[in-house]
Amino acid sequence: MRERIHDKFASCFGEGGVCYAAAGRINLIGEHTDYNGGYVFPGAIDKGIVAELKPNGTDKVRLFSIDYDAESIFGLEEKDKPAEPWACYVFGVCREIIKRGGKVAGFDAVFAGDVPLGAGLSSSAALESCFAFALNDMFNAGGIDKFELARIGQSTEHNYCGVKCGIMDQFASCFGSKGQLIRLNCKTLEYQYFPFNPEGYRLVLLDTCVKHTLADSAYNKRRESCERAAAVIRENHPEVEFLSDCKRVWLDEVRGRISEEDFIRAEYVIGEVQRVLDVCDALERGDYETVGEMMYQTHFGLSRLYEVSCPELDFLARLARKMDVTGSRVMGGGFGGCTINLVKDELYDAFVKTASEKYLAEFGHALKVYDVVISDGARKL
Ligand code: GLA
Repeated sequence: MRERIHDKFASCFGEGGVCYAAAGRINLIGEHTDYNGGYVFPGAIDKGIVAELKPNGTDKVRLFSIDYDAESIFGLEEKDKPAEPWACYVFGVCREIIKRGGKVAGFDAVFAGDVPLGAGLSSSAALESCFAFALNDMFNAGGIDKFELARIGQSTEHNYCGVKCGIMDQFASCFGSKGQLIRLNCKTLEYQYFPFNPEGYRLVLLDTCVKHTLADSAYNKRRESCERAAAVIRENHPEVEFLSDCKRVWLDEVRGRISEEDFIRAEYVIGEVQRVLDVCDALERGDYETVGEMMYQTHFGLSRLYEVSCPELDFLARLARKMDVTGSRVMGGGFGGCTINLVKDELYDAFVKTASEKYLAEFGHALKVYDVVISDGARKL
């Protein structure tokens, strides 16, 4: 990939570019908890975005996306977003750096990625983190810390892409470290690395290859439900800043004062925050059976209470259970994308084969299989 990027860069913009990379992510557990101030447990993966950049001495940004085989040019002073949706991420990152008092001057860039799009692996966070890291290095002498780089990516989603996401994806993409998952407290941003080397097991992603339209607006609606529930609970318990601060009994107190829909959304979130802690404890004991059981519980919650699953994802999680796979659940925002599966080595081949065959027979199109390698986050190459 790097060679292709370099060849294109050299032919469009000449020599002298510098290369940067940032990764997509998986999340072992802790879904839809980040914007509720709860815990998440992601890691960066060996699939990401690579970009070659060079200042061009103007006030314009010239971008070339190899994957879209398309160019986008925008001015740094312009108020309007570029017409190409993929360029909005880079535009947003530039604006957010400038908004924070950082410097961005005109530059040329060519980039490409191998994070499957729409699979719930955060290709957009990888793109944001790659450019945030690169522009920080190139124009700000690395003076913006990694937390702020992650926030720059998150604000880009909020302000330029219409998704009111949490901090998990950009955090994982910036802080990822080879062979380690990161438990992040999204309220305090305290984090801890956990070596992840589940001997005797493998992590595999099964991509349904479906992405439901309106996923972004449904995502924002889930967030609003949580905020409404937290606001009512706060009337009784002023210390509640986020839903993650709520005890389960506090939620029961307001049943009847919030809609049934908001209630079940909140019920899921409160359970999920605890599951992340339980999974971390289990991991430290080497107890992968408990890790897997929690993953199934998360799937149940995301499917029945949070309602962000879909028939394809439910089919795969159900099949995993039937085949005695240790753990399986929908990963990421939902409404399509992947299941993440914790599978015993000896079951791996049979599971992947059976899932592929049965999925094709049921839905008439193939799934994709990705093996997971936990890797480093944003960096200069
Ligand atoms: C998307 C968002 C994240 C997070 C997950 C669900 O990936 O970008 O912030 O909310 O969904 O856990």
